[in-house]
Amino acid sequence: MLLLKPDLQSMIEISSPLKIKSHLADLKKEGKKVGFVPTMGALHQGHLALIKRAKSENDIVVCSIFVNPLQFNRKEDLEKYPNRLKEDSEMLNKVGCDLLFTPQKEELYAEQPKTDFNFGSIAVGMEAEYRPGHFEGVAAVIERFLSILSPDKAYFGEKDFQQLAIVRWVKEQFNFDTEVVGCQTVRDENGLAMSSRNYLLEESQYLIASEIYKLMKYCQTKVGETAPQVLAKECFEKLKPNFKPEYFEIVDGLTLQPIKSWEESNQPRVFVAAYLGSVRLIDNLSLV
Ligand code: PAJ
Repeated sequence: MLLLKPDLQSMIEISSPLKIKSHLADLKKEGKKVGFVPTMGALHQGHLALIKRAKSENDIVVCSIFVNPLQFNRKEDLEKYPNRLKEDSEMLNKVGCDLLFTPQKEELYAEQPKTDFNFGSIAVGMEAEYRPGHFEGVAAVIERFLSILSPDKAYFGEKDFQQLAIVRWVKEQFNFDTEVVGCQTVRDENGLAMSSRNYLLEESQYLIASEIYKLMKYCQTKVGETAPQVLAKECFEKLKPNFKPEYFEIVDGLTLQPIKSWEESNQPRVFVAAYLGSVRLIDNLSLV
């Protein structure tokens, strides 16, 4: 059965995996190209940039909103994750998203999800170290989404660069035809990477939060001058007065492993994770 969009402005919300699969199968039979943007909701301009990009490269855009319990290693984070489905839905409708997929965990994980993956070096260190089990949960949900939706293209932000590497790994490992598209990080005017967690920052903290971006930009000016690990340590220390930093690393953009000299990598990248009060912020930037 083909569900019809009543008018150009209205998006269709589907929560059943089986229904959306069959709906998309009908659209694909008509030759429509499908772009997919997975999210956990509490949408901001960073998410909307992915939707707009998907819209410009496909006939149909599907956005999922699913707060994936498998990827939360701290129960408190899952519990306090913002829920703004009504506002999200309005925002998506405005930017021309066609389908909103809001699965329930019981249905999405009706079959026991796979969680034993061997990601290799991309999951050694940084988020993998500080959020044990997180990427297994991300990989499990992405495997589910790609097999249910079989999109032509799926869009992910470089904001979560290590996650993007995991998604590319999932695509290869399970031979999905979907093209994985990485999209630039969208930032506020002060440089702070947009994040659903920013909604949890108080105004005074919001001002301080931009220090992370300033330090990453500072690293760009020191390439070839200060050794990567010395620079990383210096910046880690600079964060300490206002933040509780977890890591400040300069790594190769492909292996995601720390580099000892600038000659070691042609795509050095800086990665940061730090708590500001109780809010955990992460960011990264290319150093070339
Ligand atoms: P979520 O944090 O909601 O992010 C959804 C997508 O938006 C991710 O690809 C993320 O990298 C991207 N994104 C977030 N902030 C961005 C910004 N400032 N600029 C550009 N892109 C940005 O990441 C997840 O959800 C989940 O792990 C998910 C992939 C949905 C799997 O559950």
